[in-house]
Amino acid sequence: MTRQGGVVTLADAENYVHRLIAPSSPHEAWTVADNDVLAGLVCVTVDEENKSGWFWYWMTDTARGRGWTSQAAATVADWALNTRGLERLELAHRVNNPASGAIARRAGFVREGTERGKFLISGQRIDVDTYGRLGSDPSAPFERVPMADS
Ligand SMILES: CC(C)(COP(=O)(O)OP(=O)(O)OC[C@H]1O[C@@H](n2cnc3c(N)ncnc32)[C@H](O)[C@@H]1OP(=O)(O)O)[C@@H](O)C(=O)NCCC(=O)NCCS
Repeated sequence: MTRQGGVVTLADAENYVHRLIAPSSPHEAWTVADNDVLAGLVCVTVDEENKSGWFWYWMTDTARGRGWTSQAAATVADWALNTRGLERLELAHRVNNPASGAIARRAGFVREGTERGKFLISGQRIDVDTYGRLGSDPSAPFERVPMADS
């Protein structure tokens, strides 16, 4: 999360949201709302030239472990490929963050490889697993959630 730009103050949070929703932003973000309160985010950062998107997500700590991120990721991935018209989605996660890989697989992503020693974190080189999902890949058999555009 700190690599997303560390949100600590209300002003940081407002900047974070503005970066996501600015008219020129490549980010197409969907919030996961719990009775209108922000719980998490699933976002596709679009590369129009390649009709592809970088797929990323987070869930606030008190709402984790309920399957919400998996459901939201499966829903947004289907939307991105079937409605938004992208042809490839890709993501990556550190191997010491296996929950993220579980979410990717549940959202229909296929593991494509490992970038060895990708990041230097606290003096340790950390491998990163990479995943992709093409429009032609099967949809994930996971419960979808309703999407509301605003
Ligand atoms: C990763 C993250 C999004 C998970 O959110 P979550 O809402 O808890 O995810 P879900 O509840 O939908 O599912 C997580 C799955 O991973 C599994 N999981 C959790 N820890 C695991 C572990 N150590 N090993 C294997 N699987 C694990 C869970 O058991 C769950 O599967 P289950 O429902 O079959 O039990 C959340 O921890 C987070 O926001 N982390 C910080 C940001 C981040 O890492 N984002 C991803 C960047 S690549």
